[in-house]
Amino acid sequence: MTILNAEERTRSDLAHLIHPLYHPNDHQSPHIWVEGHGAIIKDMNGKEVIDGLSGLWNVNVGHGRRELAEAAMQQMSTLAFTSNYTGSSNLPAIELAERLSELTYPSINTFFFTSGGAESSESAFKTARFYWKTQGKPDKVKVISRKLAYHGVTLAAMSATGMSIYWPMFEPRVPNFLHIESPYPYYFQGGDANTSQGVAAANLLEEAILREGPDTVAAFIAEPIQGAGGVIIPQDDYFGRIREICDKYDVLFISDEVITGFGRTGKWFGLEHWGVQPDIIQFAKGITSGYIPLGGIGVSDKIHAAINTVAPEKRWMHAFTYSGHPTSCAVALANIKIIEDEGLVQRAAEMGTYLLDRLRTLENLDVVGEVRGKGLIAAVEVVEDKAAHKEFPASAKVGPRIYKEMLDRGLFTRVRGDVICIAPPLITPADQLDRIVSIIGEAIPAALQA
Ligand SMILES: Cc1ncc(COP(=O)(O)O)c(C=O)c1O
Repeated sequence: MTILNAEERTRSDLAHLIHPLYHPNDHQSPHIWVEGHGAIIKDMNGKEVIDGLSGLWNVNVGHGRRELAEAAMQQMSTLAFTSNYTGSSNLPAIELAERLSELTYPSINTFFFTSGGAESSESAFKTARFYWKTQGKPDKVKVISRKLAYHGVTLAAMSATGMSIYWPMFEPRVPNFLHIESPYPYYFQGGDANTSQGVAAANLLEEAILREGPDTVAAFIAEPIQGAGGVIIPQDDYFGRIREICDKYDVLFISDEVITGFGRTGKWFGLEHWGVQPDIIQFAKGITSGYIPLGGIGVSDKIHAAINTVAPEKRWMHAFTYSGHPTSCAVALANIKIIEDEGLVQRAAEMGTYLLDRLRTLENLDVVGEVRGKGLIAAVEVVEDKAAHKEFPASAKVGPRIYKEMLDRGLFTRVRGDVICIAPPLITPADQLDRIVSIIGEAIPAALQA
């Protein structure tokens, strides 16, 4: 049967598809996207909107890049897939790993590939536990993360994720995962004349490690900028103190760069803003600009040495069918070439400043508590009471109403609570960034009047 229009497609979708974070009530009139070019996407009814979140924080080089399609076609017609299990390798995976050793932190030189972010979280947690077992510390198994963190939704990743809305219908969570407060500068209460807010927020990690016992803690995981939690940018001295604490108590520091990697923040990787290096990095999304699934982890030389020197019967027994997928790796190489050739990391820094300056004009609205951003990732925090930093009650549904008003005006992005998240493609032209700001400026008052 040929299905002709959007209404019939929607009926078919409702009958046969389960979507991420699904409830059919929210899916009665979905946008069925059919085309994308640059920072613009178009639905089946011909409506065009600005893709204000780069898909899901991932389409860094923008939509419709033929170079990436050609890289996939070239690799698929040469060798689409071969296993990368021990004893086998392939040329794009080797080249990509070498390239990443040049692009990521000096501490990170060796890589394992996955198909996405959650698999990368799982790989990082298992590698941290593996490492401590090789060091004769088998009880170091706990993972500490932060409230409002998002690390994916497979069981262990969900347990590290600090947004409790993801838990209830899938509990019990995996044991040995715990959360400390986010450093969220707009809300964080802490610090005094002797201790800055950032150091006070980081010290919560030390308190948690001491409470749990350092001999039980394998790793601390953090996104350099908490993305899905509401684009939370930590205080400038936060991660330096985190690194000190991890070193002091022999806790591995995992940097989850699934969103902050590959230029999003105006640096190749997020922790570069604060001169800190992790023991494990995890990435996905922007490595292929979302054109094909790929993620992975990179490990420090000491972890690599542990993997290399363990007895064969204690090997790093971790794997995915699609680890080191040749086509995904070929697309990643082509994507990295675009980012380099077009200077997109620098562009994200420059246009990020441009966007932030303009977004700051929205602080004149009496419900905009804070505008924040770094590179081309930004947020507008909408609150009921600016002086008291007090949120609207969730029942007021301010965020969802703003979302609808933005979409009606041609901006597609996400809200977390009443925080409007913005992360357009790194190629977004200035006039479209201006349009993002003017749409948000109209949508907020319209939503509050509605
Ligand atoms: C920081 C971070 N980690 C992990 C993930 C999970 O990635 P995936 O959805 O590919 O499993 C995400 C997804 O948004 C993310 O933002």
